[in-house]
Formats: sequence, structure tokens, C-alpha cells
Amino acid sequence: SVQPVRVAVTGAAGQIGYALLPRIAAGEMLGPNQPVILHLLERDDPKALAALEGVVMELQDCAFPLLRGVVATSDINKAFDSVDYALLVGAKPRGPGMERADVLKDNAAIFKVQGRALNESAKKSVKVCVVGNPANTNAMIAAANAPNIPATNFTSMMRLDHDRAMAQIALKLGASSVADVEKLVVWGNHSATQYPDLSNAVIKGKSVAKNVDQEWVRNTFIPTVQQRGAAIIKARGVSSAASAANAAIAHVRDWVLGTNGRIVSMGIPSDGNPYGVKEGLLFGFPVTCQNGQYKIVEGLQWDEFGKGAIERTIKELQEEKDAVKHLL
Ligand code: NAI
Repeated sequence: SVQPVRVAVTGAAGQIGYALLPRIAAGEMLGPNQPVILHLLERDDPKALAALEGVVMELQDCAFPLLRGVVATSDINKAFDSVDYALLVGAKPRGPGMERADVLKDNAAIFKVQGRALNESAKKSVKVCVVGNPANTNAMIAAANAPNIPATNFTSMMRLDHDRAMAQIALKLGASSVADVEKLVVWGNHSATQYPDLSNAVIKGKSVAKNVDQEWVRNTFIPTVQQRGAAIIKARGVSSAASAANAAIAHVRDWVLGTNGRIVSMGIPSDGNPYGVKEGLLFGFPVTCQNGQYKIVEGLQWDEFGKGAIERTIKELQEEKDAVKHLL
């Protein structure tokens, strides 16, 4: 019989956690034959821990056959003890009157501690997906603080942006399924500077770019994808959770079980990339995955507009990095 693997989820009592945990326990992330033990981390705060207790009760009540245990704790080393996977979701949200730089600094401190704890407690082969914002820079900080774990095991979630872009193209071109859209890439930062790039995309094998006008691409498609998070907050009053959880499931599932040659976007270390993106950043790239490894897809081209967009997102990531350099 297959041995269970241990999956850590931080911020487990939050919105995304609530949408994510039942799906992991149901086998949607690691497959229908892979039992799991969930390690749930929350802040050492009575309200958060009470909510976490409730989540644990509901997980029990789902009676998932693949769920072989739950560790619920505010002790970070317990949460990361011998884990095979870590989904770092918990982060401090931007409160009223807080500057972006304040959020960056507060969260950077959290991800430094989490990087160290993963280094100390997790399996050396742990695969990490950072969801908590600013996700790319947080993943970079965690990696920098985990010298015994390969830096390439630290990734950030660009998949929500990728899937949002897929959906917009499918809607625009009346595709019967988003699965008909391929070779789309979201480059760069998970932020408003991201570059959703459809210049190489195909739909049922035909160029997307040739079937939409440039005016739509620049003035509707790109801003819609970049601003989608804000649009969800405006509509729902709270930020995207079901779609964010879905993207986290897809990110890890594809990394572990493979993409069968399809291109997906992942935030990964830029070191050694073939696109000339500055090294030392955590950047959204096109990848394919096989045998538990991701590999950058080479040879895609940027036009002049694309080059400008890439420069802007690199600049923003460099600024974020400069703001947290005392933690690296
Ligand atoms: P939430 O506020 O509902 O939940 C966050 C949870 O994390 C809370 O329960 C909180 O107690 C916990 N938490 C905070 N600091 C922690 C720490 N140091 N250790 C353990 N737990 C901690 O937020 P939600 O909606 O679940 O979002 C979580 C994060 O995901 C946010 O940073 C959000 O910006 C980000 N996000 C990222 C997306 C992406 O595409 N990368 C998409 C959507 C959200």
C-alpha cells in the first residue's frame, strides 16, 4: 500500500485554506491513490486556533478515505516536521493605512522564519508553493533562509493569473473549453506588473494573436487579468479564495504529476534562465513538468511591447528584493 505523504498548509483557518484543504484530502492534488497527512499551521491566537479546530472537525466529518491524519498547531516546527509538501498561504493582509512597503516587510519577516523552520524540520526534498503575498518575494526569502533545501524547490503561485488569462481568451474566442487554449504564459511578478502574454498562444492549434486585435490585447485582456484580484474583492468584499485554492491545487498537481507537455506558468528562481531575466529573482516563467521536476520552456519570443512589460516587472521584483535585503 502507498505510504502517506505529509502536506503542510499555513494560514489553514483562512479563506483559501477552507477552500483548499478538502480538495487536498480528497486526492485532487496528489492523485486518487496517494494518502495524505495534513499539517495545519495557524497563528498563536485564540480566535485563529478556535477556527482551526472547526476546520479540523469538518475535515473529520468529510470522512475522506485518503486522509490519514491531521496535525493542527501554532508550532511552526511541528507544522513542518518531515513534510513532503508545503503550501505557504498564511500571510498578513494589507490593513487600513498600511503602505505596500509595510506589508512587504511584515510578510518578509514571516517568510524568513518559515524558510528557517522548513530548513530545520521539513524533508530536504520538500516542494514549496508560496501563495501568501507578495508571493514571489516571499518565496525568494524562504529559499534564502533554507540553505539545505534546493532553491529550485521554492516556487510561487502564478497559476491563478495563468488560469484567469486562459479563461479570458476562451471567453473572447468562444472556445468550447479552456483546455483548447495552449502556450499562454504569465511572466514576472504576481502583481499588477505581471505580463499575461498571448503572443505564442494557440487555440485548437490556431494562433490566438491573429484572431484578436492588438487594441483588445493591450486595453482589455492584459488589464483584466492584471486587475482581476481587485475586481473579485470589489464584487465579493473579500479576496478570491475558491479560484486561488484551485490554482494552488493545479500548481502542485502539475509539478508532481506532470503536465503532459502542456505549458503552465510557475514562479521559479530566475538563476540560469534562458531569457536573460536578471538572476536572483523569483519570476513567472513558462514551464512543463515531468517526473516531479519543472523545466523552463525555451525559445519563446517577446515583441517590443512584451520587452517593455518584462522590464517593468523585473524592476518591481528588484525593488521588492532591495526592500527586504536585510532578510536575505
Ligand atoms: P485570510 O486572511 O482569510 O487567511 C490567512 C490566514 O493566515 C489567517 O487565518 C491568519 O491567521 C493566518 N496567518 C497569518 N500569518 C500567519 C503566520 N505567520 N503563520 C500561520 N498562519 C498565519 O487570507 P486568504 O484569503 O486565505 O489569503 C491568504 C494569502 O493569499 C494572502 O496573502 C493573499 O494576498 C494571498 N493570495 C494570493 C494569491 C495568488 O495568486 N498568489 C491569490 C489570492 C490570495
